[in-house]
Amino acid sequence: MMFLWTWMSRFAVAVGLLVSALAQLCTPEYGYEGYAYIVNDQSDLDAIAANCTTVNGTIIMSANYTGGFNLSNIRNITENIQWFQANRSDVRPQTTSIYLPDLKYLGGTLDMPGIPTLTSLIAPKLATVGWSLSIDYVQEVDLRSLVDLEYLSITGNVSSLRLDSLRQVRESILICNKVSCNSKISPNGSLDLYLPALQSAGNMDLEGRFSSFDTPNLTNITGLGALYYSIKLLTSGGSAINISFPELKYIPGGAVDFEGNIGSLSIPDISNMSALFTVDAYDRLDINLPFQEAAYITLTGNITSVRLPNLTSIEQFTVNSDADIDCKSLEQTITTATNKSEPLVICSTSWTSSGSHFSLHLHLGAKVAFGVFIGIFVEFAMS
Ligand SMILES: *[C@@H]1O[C@H](CO)[C@@H](O)[C@H](O)[C@H]1NC(C)=O
Ligand SMILES: *[C@@H]1O[C@H](CO)[C@@H](O)[C@H](O)[C@H]1NC(C)=O
Ligand SMILES: *[C@@H]1O[C@H](CO)[C@@H](O)[C@H](O)[C@H]1NC(C)=O
Ligand SMILES: *[C@@H]1O[C@H](CO)[C@@H](O)[C@H](O)[C@H]1NC(C)=O
Ligand SMILES: *[C@@H]1O[C@H](CO)[C@@H](O)[C@H](O)[C@H]1NC(C)=O
Ligand SMILES: *[C@@H]1O[C@H](CO)[C@@H](O)[C@H](O)[C@H]1NC(C)=O
Ligand SMILES: *[C@@H]1O[C@H](CO)[C@@H](O)[C@H](O)[C@H]1NC(C)=O
Ligand SMILES: *[C@@H]1O[C@H](CO)[C@@H](O)[C@H](O)[C@H]1NC(C)=O
Ligand SMILES: *[C@@H]1O[C@H](CO)[C@@H](O)[C@H](O)[C@H]1NC(C)=O
Ligand SMILES: *[C@@H]1O[C@H](CO)[C@@H](O)[C@H](O)[C@H]1NC(C)=O
Ligand SMILES: *[C@@H]1O[C@H](CO)[C@@H](O)[C@H](O)[C@H]1NC(C)=O
Ligand SMILES: *[C@@H]1O[C@H](CO)[C@@H](O)[C@H](O)[C@H]1NC(C)=O
Repeated sequence: MMFLWTWMSRFAVAVGLLVSALAQLCTPEYGYEGYAYIVNDQSDLDAIAANCTTVNGTIIMSANYTGGFNLSNIRNITENIQWFQANRSDVRPQTTSIYLPDLKYLGGTLDMPGIPTLTSLIAPKLATVGWSLSIDYVQEVDLRSLVDLEYLSITGNVSSLRLDSLRQVRESILICNKVSCNSKISPNGSLDLYLPALQSAGNMDLEGRFSSFDTPNLTNITGLGALYYSIKLLTSGGSAINISFPELKYIPGGAVDFEGNIGSLSIPDISNMSALFTVDAYDRLDINLPFQEAAYITLTGNITSVRLPNLTSIEQFTVNSDADIDCKSLEQTITTATNKSEPLVICSTSWTSSGSHFSLHLHLGAKVAFGVFIGIFVEFAMS
């Protein structure tokens, strides 16, 4: 049977549903946007849901879409879900939420940029996205079944994020709980960033205000993808969180950058840090990393101590600390550990001793008996 009706969109796309009672596969008519249903409101979605379980094509939200977008019954969309952006005007959908309760498979892309009214994306059964998923302005995202895709980008005042099953993002993963990822303004709320199943990512950029961070199964950063960083993690405006990559074994070159309210930093299994490695600590932070070989390490902010007990080789080590760090001892121990005479260390501190704060916290390759001695001396002097 062939049902034909006219969609009263600006683009007046005539859409047909070719209905087979058994397969319930619907192929939209070919139009200006390819094989696509253009939907103007919920009733258009209900019409698709009434007769289809598979959409062999794309669903496009028109620019004047308003309210909730609730697409039940559809399990398979072979191409994309997007909104109509070809006509660059100021008109944007006023969509409030996207709810895909039955969708398991999306062959192409879910692309929903630039809709400030959007608050949620809920697709609890969506397991596979063929290419990418990109959404901004959202506060709640439930993709608990999503296993793998090429690109994942989620931006907004995100306060609730479920990616329970996400195992692999072959290229880039970008999660920003700020309205704009470049913005300095984090939301008032904070986000628990929990990626329990993630094993491999091309590269990752995670920015905002996080109340916790956990990637217990992340093993590989492969270096594929469009981001400059191999890993960038920025958390600001909240309390200091512990950052740990307990299983991470492989990071290619590129850059690894940690910034913000960090309480501790642990990367126990990386012995060759060939990336540019930078830390900018807003809270007092003790650095203890097991790198044997490193390229360029730059530590700034409230760095209170540095341990690199396994270090044998490094290109350049730069410390610019706001805290009470002992540069002389640092230079000495790095030089001893790497057995090199040329200066590899640039160290400075803007901290001025108030007298009661004097301490020495440097323990690198070769243990410094001198440090122990100073510690005893300070205890003695203050008692
Ligand atoms: C969207 O615009 C089209 C025409 O441009 C109109 O027919 C349709 O009713 C509009 N939809 C809504 C929800 O306003
Ligand atoms: C859906 O299919 C049923 C039975 O085939 C038909 O009666 C109904 O009109 C169809 N609805 C739409 C919106 O096409
Ligand atoms: C799906 O749509 C394509 C056009 O994009 C068409 O060639 C193909 O025959 C359709 N598949 C089925 C099963 O109808
Ligand atoms: C979505 O649509 C389904 C089917 O019409 C309905 O049962 C459900 O309550 C709707 N959910 C929301 C959140 O609107
Ligand atoms: C989705 O539907 C298309 C077209 O019928 C089919 O080729 C494909 O295998 C389906 N995908 C899944 C995961 O069911
Ligand atoms: C694009 O939008 C402009 C301004 O809203 C309008 O004048 C023009 O007709 C639109 N073009 C198409 C192809 O819809
Ligand atoms: C996001 O959070 C910031 C800071 O709390 C707030 O100024 C902004 O209005 C929020 N934006 C949205 C879209 O909720
Ligand atoms: C964010 O916090 C500031 C200062 O505490 C407050 O003025 C503002 O209203 C808050 N904004 C939101 C969206 O909660
Ligand atoms: C993490 O990996 C371990 C072993 O590799 C596995 O047993 C566990 O289920 C994984 N956790 C999740 C949440 O996938
Ligand atoms: C991790 O990378 C190594 C070396 O490139 C590769 O052998 C391994 O298969 C990768 N593992 C995963 C889970 O991607
Ligand atoms: C660092 O050295 C300790 C003690 O020698 C060793 O157990 C550990 O495996 C080393 N870690 C790395 C990442 O090389
Ligand atoms: C370092 O920490 C102190 C408090 O311990 C704080 O006052 C100062 O602003 C911090 N410095 C930076 C660069 O965040």
